[in-house]
Amino acid sequence: MKALPELFKNNKKWASEIWASNPEFFSRLAAQQAPEYLWIGCSDSRVPANEIVGLLPGELFVHRNVGNLVIHTDMNCLSVLQYAVDMLKIKHVIVCGHYGCGGIQAALENKPHGLVDNWLRHIRDIHHRHRDKLSILSKAEQMRKLCELNAVEQVINVGNTTIIQDAWKRGQKIAIHGWIYDIADGLLRDLSVCVTSRRELDLLQKKI
Ligand code: CO
Repeated sequence: MKALPELFKNNKKWASEIWASNPEFFSRLAAQQAPEYLWIGCSDSRVPANEIVGLLPGELFVHRNVGNLVIHTDMNCLSVLQYAVDMLKIKHVIVCGHYGCGGIQAALENKPHGLVDNWLRHIRDIHHRHRDKLSILSKAEQMRKLCELNAVEQVINVGNTTIIQDAWKRGQKIAIHGWIYDIADGLLRDLSVCVTSRRELDLLQKKI
């Protein structure tokens, strides 16, 4: 017996619907992918990248981890970024945080969560760096603000990678965007931190 039959049933239905409306869809995608966007988002099951922005398979290159972090020693994330920039020549990197992020909530708590605490340390560092402006807020506001600040910090991290720095140096046009998604209303908000050059990145770093 096949494991998880309901998921295979869903898959068959999904594929046959696409076949019916667009018979060339899968053969075209099998030949090549040419997405314009790289999405770096949280693993949270409530934040499905393609659905939120209404993009089809083939239109969005995706990397997701707990807390949508971009860490300079994370070969997984950096490999995705390098492939997206150097091979796929994507034009936009979207770092999308979300309100109500369990990773950020856990980083704000003073109790152990096991191995993941080593990963969440990066969020705790961001909290510490911004403690002055966060400490004057209520607990709920602090949580929302930290979700936003974390996304902005990751925009800066993307911009500071050798991958993006080299791409900008050789004149490749890439914009890095910081967004936040609200799981409570399904809407995206632009955090207005778009950077397209070393200069804009420096300005953002000074501002935050
Ligand atoms: Co999350």
